[in-house]
Amino acid sequence: MSETTKIDKTMVPEHIAIIMDGNRRWAREHKMHRRDGHREGAKSLESVMERAGDLGVKILTVYAFSSENRLKRTKKEIRELVALMKYFIIKKRKDLFQRGARLGILGNVKIFPDDLQQAIDKTVRLLKKNERIKLNIALNYGARPEIVDAMKRIMNTCKDPSEINEELISKNLYTHGEHDPDLIIRTGGEHRLSNFLLWQASYSELYFTNVLWPDFRQDDLDRAILEFQKRARRYGQ
Ligand code: FPP
Repeated sequence: MSETTKIDKTMVPEHIAIIMDGNRRWAREHKMHRRDGHREGAKSLESVMERAGDLGVKILTVYAFSSENRLKRTKKEIRELVALMKYFIIKKRKDLFQRGARLGILGNVKIFPDDLQQAIDKTVRLLKKNERIKLNIALNYGARPEIVDAMKRIMNTCKDPSEINEELISKNLYTHGEHDPDLIIRTGGEHRLSNFLLWQASYSELYFTNVLWPDFRQDDLDRAILEFQKRARRYGQ
């Protein structure tokens, strides 16, 4: 029996979030340029999104570019990543549309070149009625800056501190109105959240794998979901 047929379709996580780590190590292992690692990573994203949609996952949130990345990577690598994002958001627009995907962006995109920002706006607009799956791409994202932004918005609108509660904070995060992730996957062997969805991860199941992101296949997603279902069943007993 394949992994997919073992998946209980009534217990599929509604929201899966992924820290797609290991692109550069994959490129080094294959004696390729790091740009090729990121490109292969983009292919993994497409195929994982397709499987997630088939299984009934409603939201897929991926960490593509952290606010720390901007400080720690060379200007050249950032240019390569921006070019890849632009390629993905423009060239894959039609494809995303046909796959019934909606697009959301989490993070401060104002630091990116105007053409990327315009491409993002256009794609978000064109896909906004799609309902099969929502793809959230975290770009120049950090959970702490997200919480700081939420606090600033709250301070501007709420005069009485006793009105501040968890619901109000959630409503002011970039993921407002969305179900918190049920499952967070991190590839590439590290076991930490690296400033990703810290508020939203309070009750998420965490799944870590050594598989490098460009090698992460649909079967790997199935394995993560099966592990999620095993844990959910144990808690249910
Ligand atoms: C982490 O691997 C990966 C990134 C910082 C970039 C993630 C980007 C993609 C998967 C490209 C496609 C995404 C979109 C939205 C088009 P790393 O570079 O930190 O690798 P390492 O851990 O081996 O150094």
